[in-house]
Amino acid sequence: MKSRLLAVFQASLFAGLLLLPGAPFGADDGGLATLRGAPIPSAVPESGDALRKAIETDPLERDFTQQPPLVTHAVDNYPVTRNFNKCLDCHSWENYRKEKATKVSQTHFQGADGQDLANISPRRYFCLQCHVPQVDAKPLIANTYERATSRQ
Ligand code: HEC
Ligand code: HEC
Repeated sequence: MKSRLLAVFQASLFAGLLLLPGAPFGADDGGLATLRGAPIPSAVPESGDALRKAIETDPLERDFTQQPPLVTHAVDNYPVTRNFNKCLDCHSWENYRKEKATKVSQTHFQGADGQDLANISPRRYFCLQCHVPQVDAKPLIANTYERATSRQ
């Protein structure tokens, strides 16, 4: 009995292995797969109106001193790609006066080793890595986080 069970177990393991490469992913997965073979709902996230609306008012209070300021406007039509950065059309030192925008912080001209650069440092090029539009978002889980006392 024991050895029969073992054989069944081994057979199902083997079948599982055979099945792995062809595991059924979502129709829309664009060829993507997770390591565990879990379904991927859709490769393309919803965009536009489905996302939260940016609050276009004065900047909300920051939570801690070093927090990247939140973006006080929508960014849907401001692409940042390898060759083009729409944000700098308004926020560069060249254009900020004309556009009445805040100029990019001087810290953004510092290279990885602290050297001063004439242009935006590559590590600051993808603005939305750090600056996100301000939205009315509730905490995802209850928590005891408190704002730093020294903040803007
Ligand atoms: C068409 C011009 C324009 C473009 C393009 C633009 N901004 Fe702005 N941005 C502004 C102006 C003007 C303000 C000042 C206040 C306001 O109107 O919201 C501002 C405010 C901000 C602020 C708040 C600054 C502060 O003082 O607190 C941040 C951060 C910011 N923008 C980031 C971005 C990022 C990141 C992008 C690209 C995804 C971008 N902006 C694209 C014009 C622009
Ligand atoms: C690695 C994170 C990071 C990236 C990437 C980044 N920033 Fe910032 N940014 C910050 C932080 C942190 C601050 C606040 C402290 C400071 O001035 O450095 C800031 C400050 C600013 C300010 C406010 C300056 C002021 O005087 O109040 C503007 C405007 C700004 N960034 C725009 C941009 C734009 C435009 C880009 C893309 C070209 C960008 N940032 C990329 C982290 C980032």
